[in-house]
Amino acid sequence: MTKLSLSKEKISILLLEGIHDNAISELAARGYATVERLPHALDEAQLLERIGSVHMIGIRSRTNLTAKVLEAAQRLFCVGCFCIGTNQVDLKAARKQGIPVFNAPYSNTRSVAELVIGDVIMLMRGIFEKSNLVHGGGWMKSAKDSYEIRGKTLGIVGYGHIGTQVSILAESMGMKVVFYDIVRKLALGNAQPVDSLDELLAMSDVVTLHVPDTPQTRNMIGAEQLKTMKKGAHLINLARGKVVDIEALVAALESKHVLGAALDVFPKEPSGEGDEFVSPLRGMPNVILTPHIGGSTMEAQANIGTEVAQKLIEYSDNGSTIGAVNFPQVALPVHDGATRFLHLHRNVPGVLRKINDVFSARNLNIAAQYLQTDPELGYVVIDADGDVDEGEVLNDLKAIDGTLKTRFLYPGRR
Ligand code: NAI
Repeated sequence: MTKLSLSKEKISILLLEGIHDNAISELAARGYATVERLPHALDEAQLLERIGSVHMIGIRSRTNLTAKVLEAAQRLFCVGCFCIGTNQVDLKAARKQGIPVFNAPYSNTRSVAELVIGDVIMLMRGIFEKSNLVHGGGWMKSAKDSYEIRGKTLGIVGYGHIGTQVSILAESMGMKVVFYDIVRKLALGNAQPVDSLDELLAMSDVVTLHVPDTPQTRNMIGAEQLKTMKKGAHLINLARGKVVDIEALVAALESKHVLGAALDVFPKEPSGEGDEFVSPLRGMPNVILTPHIGGSTMEAQANIGTEVAQKLIEYSDNGSTIGAVNFPQVALPVHDGATRFLHLHRNVPGVLRKINDVFSARNLNIAAQYLQTDPELGYVVIDADGDVDEGEVLNDLKAIDGTLKTRFLYPGRR
């Protein structure tokens, strides 16, 4: 359990794995200047040596924050994953210690959407096959199976962040857009929702998948669904590898029922550059294979730098946990004129009453209180008016059974 009431310059921030400059400038603009940035990851032993003095840490995918490391992180109060995934962090262990973990799940939305449009054009013109032939000295100068995308129907499965961006871009290129989502979604532009996946498959010239990996989406495109697609249609998957049954897709491509496919994600992906990519799709004509780079652009890296830094700052300055992957979500207003206390506790009965007792025993007026709980964790934020002895209140809050972490923020800390 840690007590925190630091001025910003005393907050020590360690950023690993070459995190983008945008993160540094974002932190500096909000008064966080004690930042050390290393270009590489640290292993467990190195982390154990360093982590004890760090208040915030920023990592990407190659740094593992294990339970052991987190246990040694006595001053750490938040973690930023400057990437999409968070499975390199023991989220449960962080939670148990009252440490929220933030990431940037949507910073690369546009990057993926643009690649989808590129794939649509490349597939409908058979460009990769023709280009490969020219590289080998061939010359397949033919319009056969080569189509404009204008006026064709794009079927979008999953109308979320990426699906909607694809929708806008595709319409501006003259495509008709239909979409299917399990949740009712507001259609953008002239896009039309359809009632079922089968309906979408039967009417689309190109089907593009933008769903998450869930039990319902596993193999959601299998032999039956491929048969339901229009003859000569194309399939694009830049979502998650297990959404498409690859054997069934290979059969549909071989029979020419599906004319082409672009895949960026696979059920089994190599773990690194030395690891061979194995798939029956290799070598198939008019199949575009890319190594899970749909979201990998310089712009996405820059966006990630800004987005995660902002979430860390917001939590540090204000206590807001919006965007934390392992924590109750609380959006908080600025606490001008009040001292804000943040109290994280195990969700056991009676804690809220004991917290309120701390303030009423001192005759302190609670100007505002925010509470968010989940079955294991409770997060209470109290804004107290007037002349508050922060140290004493903090000690009392700390003494409440079940407390994981508590800190306070001076009025108007921004
Ligand atoms: P999102 O969460 O914003 O949207 C997903 C949409 O799918 C939601 O509207 C949801 O209601 C819908 N959905 C869920 N289950 C469904 C089902 N069974 N049938 C129909 N719709 C369903 O996610 P976002 O950001 O648009 O990402 C989409 C996918 O793209 C994710 O799988 C993500 O992992 C992947 N992705 C891939 C990248 C790459 O490098 N290739 C980069 C970024 C994301």
